[in-house]
Amino acid sequence: MEKPIAIAIDGPAAAGKSTVAKIVASKLSYVYIDTGAMYRALTYKALQQDQSLEDEKAMYQLLQNTIIDLVQTEAGQLVKLDGADVSLEIRNQEVTSNVSIVAQHGSVREEMVNRQRQLAKKRGVVMDGRDIGTHVIPDAELKIFLIASVEERAERRHKENQEKGFSSDLEKLKDEIRKRDQLDSEREVSPLLKADDAIEIDTTSLSIDEVAGKILSKVDAKKD
Ligand code: CDP
Ligand code: CDP
Repeated sequence: MEKPIAIAIDGPAAAGKSTVAKIVASKLSYVYIDTGAMYRALTYKALQQDQSLEDEKAMYQLLQNTIIDLVQTEAGQLVKLDGADVSLEIRNQEVTSNVSIVAQHGSVREEMVNRQRQLAKKRGVVMDGRDIGTHVIPDAELKIFLIASVEERAERRHKENQEKGFSSDLEKLKDEIRKRDQLDSEREVSPLLKADDAIEIDTTSLSIDEVAGKILSKVDAKKD
């Protein structure tokens, strides 16, 4: 068997990172690590406790006292916050519109990155986020940067919401995605950025399977 590698998948909101990362991980029997879920879990806990998200010191303290586990199960990945399953709660609108505020804090990021590096140490991982190829695992053997137009990304989230029976406003989704992209791209500490050695894939008019297929062919090419 070939030596397992680390695959970093970065890109803006709703570019398809987690969907294709899960497929790629499953095909390779690798572990999928959703780093966004870690920032979301901390944001959820802070909101529950009425903690000021802007207060970096307090947010860092909170993280120090927080256990976030990404648990792989047959039914998919569960996100556990201090032992409780919060997989659904961390996707709610309140968390989504506030998570980028928490993700701006340098000390919070440093601690998150330490935890993420521990998870990637053994290789055989597909990790997705914003700073994976540039900062978390700069020595990842394969780096992918997924992009898609804002319109397409908002449409995808809209469709996803409708399928789940949630209320959804396309224009609001576009605004939220633009705002989050801006915060994530313009923050001082490890912003959303394509690594020099990342392969960019524009997924605007590609299906999920086409994107996963492209990534898997890059993995195959690495083995030659
Ligand atoms: O899936 P979606 O694109 O909505 O976002 P996510 O991957 O769950 O990430 C939520 C937020 O966490 C992002 O908008 C970033 O603010 C932050 N994040 C980050 O700063 N660095 C990462 N490696 C992953 C997420
Ligand atoms: O993780 P990220 O925020 O980058 O995106 P995602 O949650 O994986 O994908 C957002 C939505 O777009 C999901 O409903 C996917 O099924 C859909 N999608 C798509 O329609 N076509 C693609 N090529 C990739 C994702």
